Amino acid sequence: MEGDQPATHKLAIFGISGRTGRELAKVASLKGWEVRGFVRPTSRVEGGIGNCQIVRGNFEELDRVIETIADSAAVCCMIGPAPNRSCPMEWLARTFARWQYEAARDREGQERIVELSSLEWTIVKPPRVTDSPPQDRVQASSLLRIGLLSKISRADLAAFIFDEAQTGRFVRQRIFVKG
Ligand SMILES: NC(=O)c1ccc[n+]([C@@H]2O[C@H](COP(=O)([O-])OP(=O)(O)OC[C@H]3O[C@@H](n4cnc5c(N)ncnc54)[C@H](OP(=O)(O)O)[C@@H]3O)[C@@H](O)[C@H]2O)c1
Repeated sequence: MEGDQPATHKLAIFGISGRTGRELAKVASLKGWEVRGFVRPTSRVEGGIGNCQIVRGNFEELDRVIETIADSAAVCCMIGPAPNRSCPMEWLARTFARWQYEAARDREGQERIVELSSLEWTIVKPPRVTDSPPQDRVQASSLLRIGLLSKISRADLAAFIFDEAQTGRFVRQRIFVKG
């Protein structure tokens, strides 16, 4: 957190190989932070990701996970399943799958583990994410209304997450964002 940061500003990113993960790495690097990212053995990061240090491993390999977060001022997890259907198809599929019961339960379980931890956590909940240019008008609140058409660009989402990692404005809150 700001004012309380180690001299070298280090950020650890899980899911750095993803589109929003890469955006976050870019934002943090531009601000002069050192970024270390964890990727799985199958992740496609040939050629690297900017100047970021990449640690390859599985989540079961605790030493790799610890190596990733060592000395970090903040840790961001950008991991999530990649939707591969169009939005209407996704909606239809989800309806038939009863809103992906297992996946939804898994996500709730993940969030509960984070919330019950003693960490200074923030859970950021975006609606549909896009590759549009940043709009710089992100709305963020635990009570923010999210509709079918709500969206946020990955660039804005990454900037919001990086800002939150620095300032801790929403520590111990689940925050909905759109912009
Ligand atoms: N796309 C949307 O519209 C949307 C909407 C709301 C929330 N979100 C959430 O926002 C976050 C970023 O989204 P995005 O669109 O940037 O995602 P993305 O480009 O698909 O990237 C997903 C990242 O998660 C990793 N990942 C996926 N499954 C994994 C697994 N089983 N084990 C370990 N790593 C795994 C991927 O690693 P590999 O490179 O190894 O595959 C990749 O780094 C995700 O948490 C997503 O669920 C997305």
